[in-house]
Amino acid sequence: MAASLDGFVARKDGRVDWLETSDEFVGGDTLDPEFVEAFLKAIDCYVMGSRTYETALGFEAQGLGWSYGDKPTFVLTSRELPRTRDTVEFYSGDLAEFVNGRLRSTFRTIWFVGGGSVSGECLRLGLADEVCYSILPILIGDGIRFFEKLDKDIALHLAEVKAYKNGMVELRYEVRSHRVPV
Ligand SMILES: NC(=O)c1ccc[n+]([C@@H]2O[C@H](COP(=O)([O-])OP(=O)(O)OC[C@H]3O[C@@H](n4cnc5c(N)ncnc54)[C@H](OP(=O)(O)O)[C@@H]3O)[C@@H](O)[C@H]2O)c1
Repeated sequence: MAASLDGFVARKDGRVDWLETSDEFVGGDTLDPEFVEAFLKAIDCYVMGSRTYETALGFEAQGLGWSYGDKPTFVLTSRELPRTRDTVEFYSGDLAEFVNGRLRSTFRTIWFVGGGSVSGECLRLGLADEVCYSILPILIGDGIRFFEKLDKDIALHLAEVKAYKNGMVELRYEVRSHRVPV
């Protein structure tokens, strides 16, 4: 996900208006559309929480499109939500069982879109191999954390760092271990 420097992925009420930052980092990279296309192509399916799905539906209703193409998109929810396309499937229940028992046998690259509560859950349950964390040049003071309710230390290996012209820093970590607290 993309987060503010103080670690939030949305305001408390779910707004992400602050994602549009204006900065210029001389010497930063520019996002290459071909790289983005290849990157997205390598994703086999998406998993997201219901509140992230509702944000995506809101974007779509504003004419901003659907970011997940025709890839299978699994929405975690215990509610009845509108289903606007065939690629969307709803799931309610044990996330580890769903990912390990059902998704891993079919999909190689599973992208957890978020939000904060799903990404926290994902790390807590030891389901993530990598964390992609983009820092935007802004502080918003309060909001939904990148990893909500994380209750243990998780050791990471910094695998990649990229800085962009728009001031965004993209970090890619590999998850090393789930350290047992002493
Ligand atoms: N900055 C970024 O890059 C970025 C990326 C993604 C999202 N976001 C933002 O993050 C915000 C949402 O984050 P969030 O932490 O509030 O919510 P979320 O993680 O998107 O969704 C959490 C909800 O998903 C459902 N859920 C989760 N696990 C489940 C399970 N195992 N079974 C059934 N339902 C399950 C529950 O809702 P119900 O059961 O009640 O439906 C839960 O309250 C949005 O504002 C979104 O725009 C930002």
